[in-house]
Amino acid sequence: MSKRTIVTLTGDGIGGIVLRESLRVLEASGFDADYVHGDIGWEFWCKEGNPLPQRTIDLIDKHKIALFGAITSKPIDEAKAELSPELQGKGFTYSSPIVGLRQLFDLDICVRPCKSYKGNPLNFVRRGKGNTIDEPLVDVVIFRQNTECLYSGVEWTNPPSQVYQAFMTHKKFVENFGKVPVEELSISTRIFTRKATLRILMAAFEHAKKYGYKSVTVCEKPNVIRETSGLMWKLAKEIQKSSFPEIKLLNTNIDAQMMWLTKNPEEYGVIVAGNMFGDIASDAFAGLIGGLGFACSAQFSSDGIAVFEPTHGSAPKYADYKISIVNPIAMIESACMMLDYLDEKKISSNIRKAIADVIEEGKVRTYDMMKMAGRPEVIQNGAASTSRMTDAIIARLK
Ligand code: NAI
Ligand code: MG
Repeated sequence: MSKRTIVTLTGDGIGGIVLRESLRVLEASGFDADYVHGDIGWEFWCKEGNPLPQRTIDLIDKHKIALFGAITSKPIDEAKAELSPELQGKGFTYSSPIVGLRQLFDLDICVRPCKSYKGNPLNFVRRGKGNTIDEPLVDVVIFRQNTECLYSGVEWTNPPSQVYQAFMTHKKFVENFGKVPVEELSISTRIFTRKATLRILMAAFEHAKKYGYKSVTVCEKPNVIRETSGLMWKLAKEIQKSSFPEIKLLNTNIDAQMMWLTKNPEEYGVIVAGNMFGDIASDAFAGLIGGLGFACSAQFSSDGIAVFEPTHGSAPKYADYKISIVNPIAMIESACMMLDYLDEKKISSNIRKAIADVIEEGKVRTYDMMKMAGRPEVIQNGAASTSRMTDAIIARLK
């Protein structure tokens, strides 16, 4: 087999820091690949007026697989002000390169596993019978539709007259908003397509089957959002009946799910949702297993492009610390998802076992695991630096 080439997208802030750490672990694990660097992020917005240059798109197109750190995004006006002077006033408009990547490569399937590590002091605990403390171990995988829903960008303030007229054909719009002056209307649309909804559902069921999860839970709100959530629920029932009868299908409303997740999180397996509710559910479940320092993700397109990244952003306030304090585990876990995808499961489980050992042993903990506020002094106060955590993981690789 020819050697794989992975595009590394460091991005901004701590993106580059954690990505470098994950590469150290990959190297030490014996994973064999070539890496090519792709430019992405704020620097390229400021210098070139484009945070996602065409050369990076070409690289991803060619090699099909990318490890991504994180980027910094800012509101349009702030972005404009930071554009280099020679590019000012030339019609450049900022848009997030990560949202751009998703749309360009149609990375419509986002997978976010949330699995607790034994001994992680950040694990969720609840009060049990007789005032005992339970620490339910969470093992949930969220499948988030990644390209549609409220994130599709189809929205208006003061909508143009054709749009307004179209809305005025809807009885409920006339009843509820018909008297609102058009310039006072802001509208964001929630669009689901049958094709993308089927794809995210199939991916969720297939994952449940492959990895032995007993249930798939659709986490939407079909009783109220009848057309879009309703479509997902209807298709889920059809798919389960025709192809996955052995897997239990559950239906929770996003609001109730947010309440239940602190009551019985161990009872959920695979969760599937549209873009907005999937984003909410994955952040919420991530909170039960240690938060952003532990939340990893993968994004897939239908034509073989895969991008692996931690859920967290570029945390700019920690980017320039002399000794980096951020937790590299979310990024290293994202690299493990890449290894699973490449069928290097022996290596990924070796790395995950090493992470588990370090956490369970409890001697090396980053500041977040010690519940400290993020400051440079955390190192003097006993927190492990980013690279010390990585070293500890590498030292336990078999
Ligand atoms: P963030 O995820 O960068 O940081 C929020 C807070 O989480 C940090 O201040 C820190 O306390 C904690 N944190 C994040 N990563 C951590 C790690 N590895 N270890 C320990 N603690 C960690 O989100 P924020 O501050 O809202 O956004 C910062 C920038 O990142 C913004 O420009 C935002 O647009 C961008 N962003 C980029 C994302 C991406 O590239 N996929 C995702 C989210 C935000
Ligand atoms: Mg989010």
